[in-house]
Amino acid sequence: MNDKDSQTRERGLAVVRTVAELRKAVAAFRAAGRTIGLVPTMGALHEGHVSLVAGALARGDVPAASIFVNPTQFGPNEDFAAYPRDEAGDFAKLEAAGCRIVFAPDKDEMYPTPMLTTVKVTGVTDGLCGPFRPGHFEGVATVVTKLLMMAMPDRGYFGEKDFQQLQVIKTMVRDLAMPVEIVGMPTVREPDGLAMSSRNRYLAAAERETALRLYREMTAVALAVRGGGASCTEATAAASVALLAAGFDKVEYLTVVDAESLRPLEKVAGPARVIVAARLGRTRLIDNIAVG
Ligand code: PAF
Repeated sequence: MNDKDSQTRERGLAVVRTVAELRKAVAAFRAAGRTIGLVPTMGALHEGHVSLVAGALARGDVPAASIFVNPTQFGPNEDFAAYPRDEAGDFAKLEAAGCRIVFAPDKDEMYPTPMLTTVKVTGVTDGLCGPFRPGHFEGVATVVTKLLMMAMPDRGYFGEKDFQQLQVIKTMVRDLAMPVEIVGMPTVREPDGLAMSSRNRYLAAAERETALRLYREMTAVALAVRGGGASCTEATAAASVALLAAGFDKVEYLTVVDAESLRPLEKVAGPARVIVAARLGRTRLIDNIAVG
């Protein structure tokens, strides 16, 4: 820990850089009879992340966050280098939110040896972002496994904004009998409906207006298909056309899926999500809402 880190720790947030320090900090809270809630992040924190810390506090967990921009989940042409980084700002937000530990390792601490092991979840990764981001979910599943093994929390908190990621992690935890409960937390939106995302800062002012259409079109689809009403294919086709007309450059997918298997639906008969990925300028936006 450097001097700046120690000062932050004195105000209530312990900044730890190594796995050994993380385990020591977690053990101290466990020795006091506390449970731990891990909030894995890639930093550039916003209200959505803060709500995950609040979720941990609400369940009585000691919130512990991680900040690591994980290179293995970015494709070669993706925004790893440009991904926003603001460690000091993130620490301040975490401390204000009541987080007690932040694990901020460097790449050598996370990946000290060549990774000869990866975690691959099939099925729920086959569609949606899977084909558009080859290797992405393997990178996510592997780093989340490592973070869970490093911190050994009672609960892990993830946003529903990345709904496919949440299903991937729930599936992995179930299949590998990992001793942790995964808690999905509702998406936090701007007052006008735009889902909070670290990537929103890439949007120019005009694009920010256009981006709003995602939420509006998803809402229109959800209303049309709920209770087995309209055909999902027809409702989502109309919404895709509307997004392109509004200025989106590409709609990678806009579909209605079963909320657990993520398989596309033609008619809604149970829990379902409207889910979308679309490109606006250099920004790739994803979002989803529940149907009904
Ligand atoms: O959702 C994210 O920020 C990342 O995918 C996660 C879960 C922290 C893994 O790097």
